[in-house]
Amino acid sequence: MELEPKSWRDSYTQIERLVLPADTNVFNALYGGRLMEWVDNVASIVAFKHCRQGTVTGSIDSLFFLAPIHLGYIVNMKGRVNYTTKTTMEIEVDVSAQDAMTGKERFTTKAYLTYVAIDVDGKPSPVPGIVMDDDDTKGRFSAGEQRSLRRLELLKDVKKEAQIFDDMH
Ligand SMILES: CC(C)(COP(=O)(O)OP(=O)(O)OC[C@H]1O[C@@H](n2cnc3c(N)ncnc32)[C@H](O)[C@@H]1OP(=O)(O)O)[C@@H](O)C(=O)NCCC(=O)NCCS
Repeated sequence: MELEPKSWRDSYTQIERLVLPADTNVFNALYGGRLMEWVDNVASIVAFKHCRQGTVTGSIDSLFFLAPIHLGYIVNMKGRVNYTTKTTMEIEVDVSAQDAMTGKERFTTKAYLTYVAIDVDGKPSPVPGIVMDDDDTKGRFSAGEQRSLRRLELLKDVKKEAQIFDDMH
């Protein structure tokens, strides 16, 4: 049975974090691994809200660090679902950083993550589609479809490599 499509607005998620000393690298800037964890966390929440079942991160195929985020800055992360297939959801996360003293904000990071919904046995499970109620949503869906095609090509190659490794061990 096909699931009822849902609006991307139902799963839109915005989270803010303050960069503390424990989050920084040797340059007093936010450690990349920490930001990846936060981004994955935001995107996971979007995925859960969209499909309301178990999900796992399938791939993080783009993560652009455009500018460093310094100690004491306020990190703002916004996640939304762009595109779905039968069992997957592409989530986009945009990150900006705000100087806590001046309020000046800068766009720092963009990421696209793909989540696969799973049932109780860990098998891929159908997800709702997205309600196409405006041109922006349609444009994002179509761009997501293009990225998905490229992602599947890469996945094919990676799976081949994994098979060769597994056969040798
Ligand atoms: C993701 C996972 C459930 C897919 O299982 P699978 O048996 O390979 O799934 P299938 O080949 O039947 O593919 C199911 C769907 O997921 C997509 N998919 C599979 N692996 C993917 C990946 N790594 N990245 C993106 N999409 C993926 C397929 O294209 C397919 O899409 P569809 O909805 O258009 O049919 C499985 O590979 C897994 O458990 N991976 C580990 C996940 C994990 O540990 N994440 C980190 C912690 S959350």
